[in-house]
Amino acid sequence: MQNTPSQALQSALEHHYGALYRQIRQKTSATVEGIVISGSGLNTALEHYPAEEILDLHDIEGFPMPTVKGHSSFLRIITIEGKRIAHYTGRCHLYEGFTLQDSLAQVALGKMLGATFTILTNSAGGMHHTYTAGDIMLLSDSLNLMLRPVQRDWLRGLTGSARASEPTLDYGRMASGEAILSTEWRKRIVPDLSARGVPFHQGTYIGLTGPTFETPAEARMYRKFGEAVGMSTVHEAEFARVCGMQVAACSLITNMLPESAAVNVSHDEVIHAAAIGAPRVAAFIAAACRCA
Ligand code: HPA
Repeated sequence: MQNTPSQALQSALEHHYGALYRQIRQKTSATVEGIVISGSGLNTALEHYPAEEILDLHDIEGFPMPTVKGHSSFLRIITIEGKRIAHYTGRCHLYEGFTLQDSLAQVALGKMLGATFTILTNSAGGMHHTYTAGDIMLLSDSLNLMLRPVQRDWLRGLTGSARASEPTLDYGRMASGEAILSTEWRKRIVPDLSARGVPFHQGTYIGLTGPTFETPAEARMYRKFGEAVGMSTVHEAEFARVCGMQVAACSLITNMLPESAAVNVSHDEVIHAAAIGAPRVAAFIAAACRCA
C-alpha cells in the first residue's frame, strides 16, 4: 500500500496536527505501517502484544483525551503478524464534546507516523435478527448519520471558510457507489478468519452521534438500513480514506436493539460484553494485519 500524501493533504495535516506530531516525535522515532483504534473496552484484545514503546498521551500537550469508561489514553507501538502498529487504547467520541478535528487526531497522527492502513474496532448495538451479544460483524459498508461532513468541517480551519473547494484533497474514493471500507482487503480477511474457525457476520454499520441509546422508533428505522449501530468509526473511516489509507473495521455486538418495548442498555453492559468478545476482535485484528 502506498503512503505518498498529496501536497494539499500534507499542509492540512501540518496545519491541524503539526504541533502534536512534533511532541510525539520527541518521544519516539518509530514509524508504523498501520493504526488500530480500540473501541469501548476492547483494548484488552491487544494486551497480549508487548508494547515496544508506550506513550501516555497525557504527556502530549493538547492531545485530546478520552473521557468515557473503557477507554484509556495510551499510544502503544506493537507488532502484529509482522506489521508495526500504532495502537490507540481508546478513542474520543463526538458525544463527549470533542470537535471533529480533535476526534480525528489519532487517525491523522497515525498517518503522519507512516501508516498506510487503519483498523477500527467498536462496540455496537445489533439489529439483525441472527445476531446476538458477543458476536462480531465485519463492516462491509458504513452509513454516516452523524451529519458532520468530514471533508468540509476538517478543511474549515484551514481555508477559513466552510467551503471545501480549496485546497482540494484527493478524497481517495475511486468511484461513486464504492464503500469507504476497503472491499478488497475485507475479501482477503474473510477467508483467513473462516479458515481459523472464527465466527463472524458482515454488515452495514450506522454511525450516530449519540450519546443516548436508541428509542424503539429509532431502532425500527435504523433496522431498515443496517445491521448494527454505534457512536463512532464512520468519520474516522472517512478521514482515513481522505488520508489515502485502506480501512477495515469490526463491531463487537454488545447488546441487541429493542424490537418494540424499551430495553435498558447500560454502558456497563457494553463493557461487560466487550470483555467477553475481545478474543474474536483480536482474531479479526490479527487477520487484518496478516492480509494488509
Ligand atoms: N446503540 C448505539 N451505540 C452502541 C450500542 C447501542 O445499542 N451498544 C454499543 N454501542
